[in-house]
Amino acid sequence: MGDASNDFHRNLVRPRTEELLDVQAGELILDIACGNGNYSKKLAEMGAKVVAFDYSFKMIELAKKRQKTVLDKVAFHVCDATKFEELIKLKQERPFDKAVAKMAIMDISDLDPLFKALHSLLRPDGIFVGATRHPCFTFPNGDDFTNSMEKGEAIQGQPALQNYYHRTIADIFNVAFHYGFVVDGFYEVPFKERATPIIIIVRFRKK
Ligand SMILES: C[S@@+](CC[C@H](N)C(=O)[O-])C[C@H]1O[C@@H](n2cnc3c(N)ncnc32)[C@H](O)[C@@H]1O
Repeated sequence: MGDASNDFHRNLVRPRTEELLDVQAGELILDIACGNGNYSKKLAEMGAKVVAFDYSFKMIELAKKRQKTVLDKVAFHVCDATKFEELIKLKQERPFDKAVAKMAIMDISDLDPLFKALHSLLRPDGIFVGATRHPCFTFPNGDDFTNSMEKGEAIQGQPALQNYYHRTIADIFNVAFHYGFVVDGFYEVPFKERATPIIIIVRFRKK
């Protein structure tokens, strides 16, 4: 992904994510499944103080090297988004104003611990913006009602295929509702001239 990410993220994912996230200087933001940290750096450049994590130790080592100019504003951690006890250790001296997971919801095998932890980590009225593959239009086997895992290729030529977890929109929303969030922002974004959207970007707000 380099320093500047790729066209897909720059042109499809970031604009609506940024609109829904509406970063304000001084905010404390949690960057969930941050990868190489290029978006964490962008959040810092917008004036936020950022806590960023990924469950890949190697990725976080690389993120720290790549983003060394902003380490005073971005704290990188190794943390598994499916482990509530690990997530809760990310608690800071004040609650997070916002959280973001850019193209990661479909990579995370269990969303329950994440929403449970987010409810405790975010301030009242705090928001979580998640961008993910469109559950209705990018489902495997033509069956969007069966939750499943499939192997896929995110970056052409990547050395190993990754796991994608398919869930219905209702499954994603219902876990959020269960932990006390409402949805107050939602976009479906198409790819180039295609008629069907390939990603959804959702803003969840803590009640
Ligand atoms: C498609 S990348 C997105 C990276 C980054 N958010 C971005 O927009 O460039 C998905 C990331 O999710 C991470 N990931 C997958 N499952 C995870 C989990 N359970 N906990 C934390 N990170 C996870 C992967 O290691 C990978 O870096």
